Amino acid sequence: MTVLVTGGTGYIGSHTTVELIQKGYEVIIVDNLCNSSESVLDKIAEITGIRPKFYLVDLTEKEPTRKIFEENKIDAVIHFAGLKAVGESCVKPLEYYYNNIASSVVLAEVMAEFGCKKLIFSSSATVYGEPERVPITEDFPLSTTNPYGTTKLMIEKIYTDLAKADAEWNITLLRYFNPIGAHESGLIGENPNGIPNNLMPYIVKVAAGELYQLSVFGNDYPTHDGTGVRDYIHVTDLALGHIAAIEKLNEAGVHIYNLGTGNGYSVLDIVKAFEKSNNIKVPYVITARRPGDIPECLADPSKAERELGWKTKLGLEDMCRSAWNFAQKSLKK
Ligand code: NAD
Ligand code: WQD
Repeated sequence: MTVLVTGGTGYIGSHTTVELIQKGYEVIIVDNLCNSSESVLDKIAEITGIRPKFYLVDLTEKEPTRKIFEENKIDAVIHFAGLKAVGESCVKPLEYYYNNIASSVVLAEVMAEFGCKKLIFSSSATVYGEPERVPITEDFPLSTTNPYGTTKLMIEKIYTDLAKADAEWNITLLRYFNPIGAHESGLIGENPNGIPNNLMPYIVKVAAGELYQLSVFGNDYPTHDGTGVRDYIHVTDLALGHIAAIEKLNEAGVHIYNLGTGNGYSVLDIVKAFEKSNNIKVPYVITARRPGDIPECLADPSKAERELGWKTKLGLEDMCRSAWNFAQKSLKK
């Protein structure tokens, strides 16, 4: 089976590519490299022994996207490509709406033209907005608090309408919670440009001495220690969720799954776990809440377990150790 992985040189796409190759899938990657590097292909080859075929294409451009399907018989697509920085999306909303939505529409148009109607889409827990309670099940009301989140919700709706209009489509929307960590080899991982927005990459840079200290955004939330609680999931477990989903990708219609662990950890839990797992200090200071943050975000992942037979296996220590291992091995200049 040949799978086209869009955004396959990115953080989650590269980990999923490794797992796909190791399960015997043939993988083709398309990416415009706006947030990743072609060198990731060499790392994938080092881990798996296979360098996937690569197309440097912007998916908002239809003709180059068509060419990928003309040149290959593609059975299914996993669509990771997109811009993902919440803060940036508030500053550059049009860029986010255009890139994320146009690419998702162009991709589906081209897939339909070539009769490839099996699609897995990277959605996000951000589509639950500020949930009334936790844990969150897939039938919770949907809303968003920033343009990035709105692109995810709009794409979910576009794909749902598509499946309604044409019963041959088989679409799975995967709502990821907070992916962190890296491949056990330390060869691929998360490598954001500039000062990181997300917690784990920021902690890694503080531990490495590149940033002075972590700002903990608020300690007055109604949580066990006052800091924000999230459902952190190891990126390898998340990648394996895609394997489970692709193996079940044969029922028409739209299928929606939360991919999380169901366990909640606070910011300070993460700091402590990182320090303990890696025997290194992470200096921090408590600062004001970050606008738009919610107190707690936690998945109920039982639907994915029931229907896909998927469950996370890796714990917080694996997440912290692998993130630091990647930084040590691959991010040193
Ligand atoms: P990433 O930025 O590492 O990977 C996305 C890739 O898409 C990048 O390599 C980028 O170059 C590519 N890309 C962007 N626009 C493109 C376009 N128009 N044409 C071709 N390639 C394009 O991000 P990631 O963390 O691996 O996230 C993958 C997907 O998962 C994204 O859709 C993201 O919104 C979603 N998601 C991520 C998280 C998270 O915390 N990382 C959580 C929930 C959902
Ligand atoms: C986690 C916790 C912060 C940085 C984001 C997106 C979401 C999804 C996953 C894509 C929060 C705290 C953080 C720092 C801190 N992505 N924090 N100091 O905001 O839960 O989710 O990534 O779909 O859409 O919004 O993740 O890692 O930014 O924050 O105290 O320097 O860490 O307040 O409680 P978030 P995060």
